[in-house]
Formats: sequence, C-alpha cells, structure tokens
Amino acid sequence: KKNIQIAIDGPAGAGKSTVAKIVAEKLGFTYIDTGAMYRATTYKALKENIKLDDEKKLEEMLLRTNIDLKPSPNGQLVFVDGEDVTEKIRSNEITANVPQVAALGKVREILVAKQKELAKDGAVVMDGRDIGTHVLKDAELKIFMSASVEERARRRQLDNEKRGIPSDFEKLKAEIALRDQKDMEREISPLVQANDAIYLDTTDLTIDEVAEKILSMAKEKM
Ligand code: C5P
Repeated sequence: KKNIQIAIDGPAGAGKSTVAKIVAEKLGFTYIDTGAMYRATTYKALKENIKLDDEKKLEEMLLRTNIDLKPSPNGQLVFVDGEDVTEKIRSNEITANVPQVAALGKVREILVAKQKELAKDGAVVMDGRDIGTHVLKDAELKIFMSASVEERARRRQLDNEKRGIPSDFEKLKAEIALRDQKDMEREISPLVQANDAIYLDTTDLTIDEVAEKILSMAKEKM
C-alpha cells in the first residue's frame, strides 16, 4: 500500500472537512484542515489589532506564531501559541474576515510552506482552496467538491441548529456566496478546479456516499 496524498478543494460549505475526516480515518491517514490555519492567523491578527491588509505586519506576526493542528477523536484541534482555538476560529467574525487575510501573498507563502512540510511523507487528506492547484500539485488524488449554494446554506443552517445557533437562511446564502466570490477573485492562488481534479457535485449525495466515492478512488491509487 502506498502513502498517497489526497487533495480536496472546493467552495465554502461543500462538506469538504466532514468528508475529509471520514476518508482520513478510514485510511488511517492524517487529516489536515488548511482553512483552520488561515482562520488561526485571522484570529491572532484580530486579537493583536493588526490591520487585516497590513501584509508586512501579518508576515512579522506569523513568523513568531505557532499554529498547531493536533489530531483528536473528533477530527482535529487547533492551537495558536498553545491556546486551544478550535471553537473560536469558527465564529462569524473570523469566517467573514479570513478571505482578506488569505488573499495576502506573504501569509500564503508561510502557511503553504507549513502545509507542504506536513504532507511531505504522504498518507494525508488535505482540504482547502488551492491544495490541488498549488500546495500538493503532485497529489495522487485530487477532488473538487461542490454543491449548489442553496444546498450549502441549508447544510450550514442544519449545522448551526445542532450547535444551538439560530441562523437566517437567506443571510447564510449571501455570506457563503460572498466568501466564494472573494476566494475565486483573488489574484494569488484563487479557488479554481485543478485540471487533473475530479469534479464531485454533492448536492444530491449524503456525506457517506461522498466519502465512499472518494475512498474507492483512493484505493485504486494505493
Ligand atoms: O475551509 P474554510 O472555510 O475553513 O476556509 C476559510 C477561508 O480560508 C476560506 O474562505 C479562504 O479564504 C481561506 N482558505 C484559503 N486557502 C485554503 C484554505 C482556506 O485561502 N487552502
């Protein structure tokens, strides 16, 4: 069996992380949530009152920051300088502000180097926006996962309900569409399907069906 790299990209709320966790678990691979790194960066920048377009200050900040992803039974814990920020980085404030931070070249340079290092021995499932196009260009399996914006907003709303957070469907839809637009329109490593990625429309599929599809494709490559 080969320790392959699996890259999963796609827009917000397509179910990438849920599916990536299942696939990683079933294969005994490490799951790496790259969005969490951009979120952690945004969290610390807001905490330090750094302007989110100040590339130089953000670069300087990142060079003295420890962002750690630690595997846990429920997926992954995220630490910033030893502080557990797993839940905090999911706030609306962080979510809305990440695309601005993620558009900066220096920020991406530092985080992408870290991502490459984490994946260098393979046996990883990495999800994000630019994994197949930039971070793991040679990944044995690349998936581009999407679903209609309505379906993604519906899933996000269900998710929120389960966590006891009330949310407005139309507002969720608008937020998701705006974040996608920012991620697709940025100059550096925009969200786009890699030429050699397999497109998976998950609108009418369950999480388990999507995971099964990816698992069977992965096994063919191993
Ligand atoms: O995947 P998640 O929704 O947590 O990502 C949050 C944000 O981080 C995205 O909207 C995007 O702006 C940024 N991101 C990125 N490149 C990645 C992963 C995430 O620019 N590989």
